Amino acid sequence: MTESTTIRWEQDDTGVVTLVLDDPNQSANTMNQAFKDSIAAIADRAEAAVQADKDAIRGFIYTSAKKTFFAGGDLKEMIQVGPENARQAFETGTGIKNSLRRIETLGKPVVAAINGAALGGGYEIALASHHRVALDAPGSKIGLPEVTLGLLPAGGGVTRTVRLMGIADALLKVLLQGTQYSPKRALENGLVHEVVATKEEMLAKARAFIDAHPESQQPWDVPGYRIPGGTPANPKFAANLPAFPANLKKQLAGAPYPAPRNILAAAVEGSQVDFETALTIEARYFTELVTGQVSKNMIQAFFFDLQAVNSGANRPKGVEPKTVRKVAVLGAGMMGAGIAYSCARAGIEVVLKDVSAEAAQKGKAYSEKLCAKAVSRGRTTQEKADALLALITPTADPGDVAGCDAVIEAVFEDPALKHKVFQEIQDVVEPDALLCSNTSTLPITALAEGVSRPVDFIGLHFFSPVDKMPLVEIIKGERTGEEALARAFDLVRQINKTPIVVNDSRGFFTSRVIGHFINEGVAMVGEGVEPASVEQAAAQAGYPAKVLSLMDELTLTLPRKIRNESKRAIEEAGGTWAGHPAEAVIDRMVDEFGRTGRSGGAGFYEYGEDGKRARLWPGLREHFGKPGHEIPFRDMQERMLFSEALDTVRLLEEGVLTSVADANIGSIFGIGFPGWTGGVLQYINGYEGGLPGFVARARELAERYGERFTPPALLVEKADKGEKFSDG
Ligand code: NAI
Repeated sequence: MTESTTIRWEQDDTGVVTLVLDDPNQSANTMNQAFKDSIAAIADRAEAAVQADKDAIRGFIYTSAKKTFFAGGDLKEMIQVGPENARQAFETGTGIKNSLRRIETLGKPVVAAINGAALGGGYEIALASHHRVALDAPGSKIGLPEVTLGLLPAGGGVTRTVRLMGIADALLKVLLQGTQYSPKRALENGLVHEVVATKEEMLAKARAFIDAHPESQQPWDVPGYRIPGGTPANPKFAANLPAFPANLKKQLAGAPYPAPRNILAAAVEGSQVDFETALTIEARYFTELVTGQVSKNMIQAFFFDLQAVNSGANRPKGVEPKTVRKVAVLGAGMMGAGIAYSCARAGIEVVLKDVSAEAAQKGKAYSEKLCAKAVSRGRTTQEKADALLALITPTADPGDVAGCDAVIEAVFEDPALKHKVFQEIQDVVEPDALLCSNTSTLPITALAEGVSRPVDFIGLHFFSPVDKMPLVEIIKGERTGEEALARAFDLVRQINKTPIVVNDSRGFFTSRVIGHFINEGVAMVGEGVEPASVEQAAAQAGYPAKVLSLMDELTLTLPRKIRNESKRAIEEAGGTWAGHPAEAVIDRMVDEFGRTGRSGGAGFYEYGEDGKRARLWPGLREHFGKPGHEIPFRDMQERMLFSEALDTVRLLEEGVLTSVADANIGSIFGIGFPGWTGGVLQYINGYEGGLPGFVARARELAERYGERFTPPALLVEKADKGEKFSDG
């Protein structure tokens, strides 16, 4: 018999066994091999004890000795599972599942005392319990987020949620979005039975359940149990069923995410068979996902890369962490207003300065609007909202920035104006205040020349809308000091955003790379491809925004301005501007047809009186269309994806990017590179045939569509050496 090393059996003299989840080798419990062995040993012991003396044990309580209840699957293990060891992966799932099932069906009450986060496998342990009491611990989350890693919950998560709440609720509330609920919201949505304020209360409630239900069993193990809301076997239910696949298809817009499809299939098929068969179906659909490339990409990006980026792999070592107390936000326009809100939400005092008191107050009004919305939706209390708003002081007086230990500038994109506003305040703020600019295109090194302390000057590139977008691109100028970089990193973490770090260059990483995506879409229109197909190709590749509609949002004059500035800079340095076929299309749109984008009321799309997008402009077909001209759909998608990936490699070559994780995370969270790829460099790693496959395909695209697809030397070299892009 194997021994339990990660679960302690603590039996009191009343016959209640507390199963303490406590992996001695990790800070959080996961479903690793040790857990698999331990839970099997616990099931053996429990069965033996009950067999020897039916009354020796009165019930079981799962709880954890860690800060979190249980962290979920062992992702290090999962990312390595290949087709060759799929069977073993399949059995690993079944092993844990069998053990949980054996304990669940002993005829004794089983309670989960959820003392902290219970996500994925953790919540599946709770689901295998007859009663779930959750501690309302700060930041604690409950749910099955497997779908966000391209997987499904295969520890009985699909089978049990379907039986607990019915197919529709299980899919919509738990499985398909992977929603992570606070304990209170988990209670409202039926994921747990009780929420308590203290650990003592939690354990008391667990015992009370055991006392009151000496012969407890799961509802679905009671003969005659029916799944709430019915199953497809019921004609009434079956009539609604077709809507599910159709809605799912619409939601995914054809993008290649296999997990939602498998979850739907496992839920529907599993609902029509007995519990044990349902577990097997769930496991089969899981195996298909865990051995596929998409889950590997998503685990790499959304777990490993994100963790590396947020934990400061790129933060200079040896600089003491510092907390910002009071920040001056210069410019209360769209970006400044959002930055002020994000800072205040993190408890930082904000002086929001604009040219007039009215303009500054208008910026603060944005926070007032967001707070009112949060209160009305029950996401915060009026008291907390008032406290947040009290932190923001709108002003037109530069004198009010006294005492600020950081400055974030967000005035118009004009270097002279940016210099002027820094000069106004640099002697008023704290003498060592961190000086940041939110410029989206201007080189940081040149901007730094206009401030008295270039060593403390850095780029902090936020994304719009600031309150929703999780990424901040930190740009290090040539003279930026290591301390400023560390402090900028700390500030971004302090406001709960994800920082990537790049070296200065025109357009940095994100603005430069997203330009390629847009250029490719626009170029295809110029070649005569049907515009609606271009939009569809972007959606089916998994981009959150269609390419021509995105161009309209950004306005067509912006790439022209950037192009002219870049061209001038390159030519002044003795170089030649490479040009792009999209340029001629943009020029005609603006100069010949006067269509500058959404803000101008007309662009690639037509807009209604209310400013809403109405339809693609029919003139596109008339002026650019070549009836019958088609290019393969796959080429259309890959031209967009490859153009971004190839330029990211060039940015690595140029030393603008220094980390693979930063590139992956920045591309997904900043500029909408499709999540299923795992980010812009993981896309290359995971491409069919690996790097050599990617290189061959890039050469094919270069031959068909232009030299810009020629693979850069670094990529070819890595492909030849059999390497992948990685930071390790
Ligand atoms: P905006 O036009 O909405 O706001 C600019 C604000 O600066 C206005 O309220 C203006 O009154 C104020 N301002 C002008 N002179 C000032 C002075 N002397 N002192 C104080 N305030 C002054 O512009 P937006 O979109 O907020 O952009 C601001 C900066 O952020 C620009 O550098 C832009 O490139 C950058 N950025 C913009 C993004 C976007 O999506 N709009 C994304 C990332 C960065």
